[in-house]
Order: sequence, then structure tokens, then C-alpha cells
Amino acid sequence: MSGTAQIGVTGLAVMGRNLARNFARNGLTVAVHNRTYGRTESLVEEFGGEGAFIAAKSAEEFVASLERPRRLVVMVQAGAATDAVIEEFVPLLEPGDVIIDGGNAHFADTRRRESELRKHWIHFVGVGISGGEEGALRGPSIMPGGPAESYKSLGPLLERIAAKAPDGTPCVSHVGPDGAGHFVKMVHNGIEYADMQLIAEAYHLLRDVAGYSPAKIAETFRGWNAGRLDSYLMEITAEVLAHTDAATGKPFVDVVADRAEQKGTGRWTVQTALDLGVPVSGIAEAVFARSLSGHPALRETAAHLPGPGAEPLDEAAAARFAERVEQALYASKIVSYTQGFHQIRAGGEAYGWKVDLAAVAALWRAGCIIRAAFLDRIRSAYAARPNLVSLLADPGFADEIGAAQGGWRDVVAEAARRGVPTPGFSAALAYYDALRAPRLPAALTQGQRDYFGAHTYRRTDREGSFHTLWGGDR
Ligand code: NAP
Ligand code: ATR
Repeated sequence: MSGTAQIGVTGLAVMGRNLARNFARNGLTVAVHNRTYGRTESLVEEFGGEGAFIAAKSAEEFVASLERPRRLVVMVQAGAATDAVIEEFVPLLEPGDVIIDGGNAHFADTRRRESELRKHWIHFVGVGISGGEEGALRGPSIMPGGPAESYKSLGPLLERIAAKAPDGTPCVSHVGPDGAGHFVKMVHNGIEYADMQLIAEAYHLLRDVAGYSPAKIAETFRGWNAGRLDSYLMEITAEVLAHTDAATGKPFVDVVADRAEQKGTGRWTVQTALDLGVPVSGIAEAVFARSLSGHPALRETAAHLPGPGAEPLDEAAAARFAERVEQALYASKIVSYTQGFHQIRAGGEAYGWKVDLAAVAALWRAGCIIRAAFLDRIRSAYAARPNLVSLLADPGFADEIGAAQGGWRDVVAEAARRGVPTPGFSAALAYYDALRAPRLPAALTQGQRDYFGAHTYRRTDREGSFHTLWGGDR
């Protein structure tokens, strides 16, 4: 017997509960289920008036309440909990049913689950969902992977609840098979780490070099947010900087311990990039900057080491410096996205996905944490040239980064002179210069490898592989 719910959500903590409400608010009948029934009950008690919910007490009841083919969204903790839930549901499902994992799963787990469930003819769709709890309720950015045919029935439901880009397009599209959706969500989070780190470096420079107060920096960031740096993260950073701590009357940012935490998706991005051989130095520096901040003993022992020390700039020089920081931030941001999109292309090649990079940029235009006006520019760049090797090869971005490089270099040099750490800005500039360089010292590295390990080298003037007999007695 087939039930009447068009979609089911199991796992009703903050994300699952809000996603279920979003489906219901958009006119779908939603079956809801949670391991602990109390959460299901409280959802229906509090929000039952928002739409049509069917509260299921057991997995059997939940499955029976779904229309066929069944579509059930799993929103539980990533890892063992997701495996436990899948194991519980598989015996209750039939060929053609679709399990949608909306948790933050590692894409390798999604690949494994998809291939196991394929043996049972069950479609497993790993979906990256971004936007936090607000996004889940009001419209997230949704990155579905899994079999393309499952998107035919699932896509229209996801389109109803997804965020809408400024041109009205829903921020959801089929990214590619098996783990592609979770891979793209992982890289989204890596880019998010880099974006946050770069904004933090801009703050640090404006504070310590320009001598600006948090309130003045908030005002500066609001100005930047009205231009090419327009983004959600820029907007909320200005809010955080303008906030005063109620207990002390001090700027909020001055009462927060300077240790950044992480749940791990940025780290996954870098680990995967290392495996793929993709240079994501900006993202890696952002992950390391969080790690470094979280080592108080290491920082304490280094606190006495000498640095340059310098007075902040005078008002006019500070204003000129702030303009250059904007250039450094924008140029470094272009580099982070260049690296992130390179990683998605490389992942697609390694795992046999055909990821449309223009479509990825399009679905990050709204709903997710990195949403920004800038993403529409990236979408246009890849739409015009789908085989673009790098964003830096796009004439528009190449012109902009070229125009910003003078200010960018001044900022990195000034930061070094004054002892202000700018790992993100500096790594991005090094990436830019390394790609531009007509010759890299990698030639010397290869010579060293040949010397100590007979690893051979290629020559610039002849084809083939060569080895030099180094030293007489070797
Ligand atoms: P969560 O705290 O990650 O997970 C709690 C939910 O998992 C509860 O419903 C819990 O059921 C269930 N659960 C845990 N172990 C289980 C098991 N062995 N069997 C069955 N159910 C189990 O909740 P969340 O913050 O809403 O996140 C859900 C998923 O979305 C996670 O994968 C998370 O990474 C991802 N996500 C979160 C965000 C965010 O901003 N929070 C954004 C995007 C994606 P009980 O009530 O019975 O304990
Ligand atoms: P979304 O992309 O929808 O916001 P997410 O990937 O779960 O959902 O989280 C977004 C960001 O918020 C993440 O980069 C995460 O940062 P860390 O990986 O550094 O933790 C942060 N975040 C989300 N939930 C968090 C939590 N419970 N504690 C700390 N940070 C959290």
C-alpha cells in the first residue's frame, strides 16, 4: 500500500526540522520521523499549522506513509549515525525508492553507500545542503549528487524549497553522480574558510596598520559590501564588528577568545586536494590559521620573540592603505575561488563526474554561506568558456587581478615589514606569481632529486628522461 506523503524527513534536529517545515510550507505533504519520538511530536505540536505533516512513530510507519517511489531525506549526524539509519531503512524499502542524505557526509562515504545501495536497486542521493538552520527553513543552496534519473522525480521538490538567485533561478541542480554533491559542498566549505580568513586578515591590517577601531572597520566593510566585494560574509562581518558586548561595553570582537574552531570540512577539502595534487594554498592557509590560533602554549612560548613594532599610519596614509587592502582582499578572493574550482574540476576528472562549473557557481549565488554577487561573474566566465583551465584565464578576472596586483603587493610587503601575519593574502600572491613565472625553481628541485635518488629529469631542449652521474665516487 502506498502512503500519501510526497517526501519524508528522518532526523529532526535543527536542520531536519527546518527542512521538513520548508517542504510543508511549500505545499508538500511531509512524513516526519526521528529516532526519539519526542522531537517528532514537538515539531508537529509547534509547527503543525504550517502545512501537512504525517508524524511517524516508527521506521515502518514512516516508510508506509510515503508515496511510491519513496523519497526519504536523512538528516542525522554524518558518519556512523547515517550508516545506522540506512541499515534500518533498507529492508523496508523497494527498488526505485530514493534515500537522500542531506548530512555533511564525506564524499567517499557517499560513494561507498551509493554503490552498496545500487545492488538493492535503491537510489542513494548524497546532497550537500548549505545555509545553516535559517537556510534550511527559508531556502538553502542544494547540491545533489547520485544517479541522474533520481533527479527527475526529486529535482522539482528540491526546486520548491531551494533559495532563489537574484534572477529567480532555484539554487539547486544535479551536480553529478554518486559523491559529486557532497564533494562540491566540501569545496564550498573550504572556500568559505578562505573567504573568512581573508576578511579576518583585512580586519587585522586595518586595525593594526591603519589604526582603525572595530566600528570604523565595520563602516569600511559596509562600503566594500556595496561594491565588488558584496557578499553575505562581508555583510555579517560588519555586523559582528559593529556589535558592542553588553556586559563590558567593549567591542564584541575584543572580548571573544582569539581561537577559531573547526568541525572538519575545510580540513577534508585540503586533504582531498593533497590526494588530487591540486594546489589549494589559500584554503590550506585558512585551515592552518585556525589550527595555529588554537595552540595557546605554542603562541605563549613565541610571544617574546622580536618583531618590528611600528606606529599606526596617519589618517591620510591609513585611508590610502585601506584602499589597497580592498584590492588585496579582492585579488586573494579571486585566487581562492580559482583554487576551489580547480579542485572541483580535478575531482570530477578523478571520479568520472562531468561537473558543470558554471552550474556550480550558479547554485552558490544564494542560500549558502559564500553567496556573493561575484559568483554570478564566475558563472558567466564558465558559461562562456566551459573548458576554462583556470578562472585566472578568464579575460575579465585576469584584468581585475592585474589591476589589483600593485596594491596587493604593497599590502603584503607592509604586513611583512610591520609583522602582521597575512597567510591568506601572501599565499594567494605567491600562487599568482608562481603561475605567472616563466621559469620556476622546480628545475633545481628536480636536479636535487636526480642527485640523491636518481629520479631522473626532463630537459628543455630534448625529449626523454635523463640521469646525470653525479660526483666521481657515486
Ligand atoms: P545533528 O546534531 O548533526 O544530528 C542529530 C540528529 O541525528 C537527531 O535527529 C538524532 O536523533 C539523530 N541521530 C544521531 N544518531 C543517530 C542514530 N544512531 N540513529 C538515528 N538517528 C540518530 O543535527 P543537525 O545539526 O540538524 O544536522 C543534521 C545533519 O545536517 C548533519 O549531518 C550535519 O552535519 C548536517 N548539516 C548541518 C548544518 C548546520 O548548520 N547545523 C548545515 C548543513 C548540514 P535523536 O533525536 O534521537 O538523538
Ligand atoms: P552550512 O554550509 O549550511 O552553513 P555547515 O557546513 O554545517 O553548514 O556549516 C557552515 C559553517 O559553520 C562551517 O564552516 C562550520 O565551520 P567549521 O567547519 O569550522 O565548524 C560552521 N559551523 C556549523 N555548525 C557549527 C557548530 N555546531 N559549531 C561550530 N561551527 C559550526
